[in-house]
Amino acid sequence: MIDIHSHILPAVDDGAKDMFEALKLLHLVVADGVTDQVLTPHLSEGHYEESVNGAKAAFSLLQKAVDDAGIAIRLHLSAEVMISHAILKFVEYDDMPWIGSWEGRKAFLMDLPPFNLPFGGDQLVSRLVSKNIQPILAHPERNYEIQNDISKIKPYIESGCLLQINCGSLMGDFGATVFKAACDLLKTNQVTFLASDCHNLTERYPNLRSGMKVASDIVGETAAREMVTKAPGDLIHGVKRL
Ligand SMILES: [Fe+2]
Repeated sequence: MIDIHSHILPAVDDGAKDMFEALKLLHLVVADGVTDQVLTPHLSEGHYEESVNGAKAAFSLLQKAVDDAGIAIRLHLSAEVMISHAILKFVEYDDMPWIGSWEGRKAFLMDLPPFNLPFGGDQLVSRLVSKNIQPILAHPERNYEIQNDISKIKPYIESGCLLQINCGSLMGDFGATVFKAACDLLKTNQVTFLASDCHNLTERYPNLRSGMKVASDIVGETAAREMVTKAPGDLIHGVKRL
């Protein structure tokens, strides 16, 4: 399996606090059956360049520690970027830590704030898609407005967004409302990727296989498996879909 969303890179955001925790998390990731782990630290809007450079430095250290420890995992560096018009500036650098590409468009994970949907968010998606960039919305089921009215996701889908939902949402870790929103998005075939979004060893741990099993009960095993294998594989390797 391939996990496209995690906060395992040590001491760069609210994820793993140090190398010890990062390596313990990666042992759990491997035990869960993941072969490729994408590291997606939050990028800070006001400090884009520093955040990217800090993540690159932390990635080199983590890769070396993983090699030294002999952990059988392929690591990939990307990011989770909060939705904002500043993204248009980031992409001009072309130093964006892309997650891969989708149908020829360079792709990245885009975070939503927990409560309100930002004004003009769907228009930002349209502008990005027109620049041949593919935003993937990270865990839209955790946004309060979407939880309470699932149709609020529609303008984002129509503008060309793809959706990634969290395994923890499907396991009830964020409560009944988030669970229902995640199930509804799956039932209506709006989800392309499942991911762990793991942060730590306690509440937000590697859980891709458990989430995939819950998704199997809703969309069937073949479709659920695709969300953790072929779809993320095509994304990180930039394979065009038939
Ligand atoms: Fe995240």
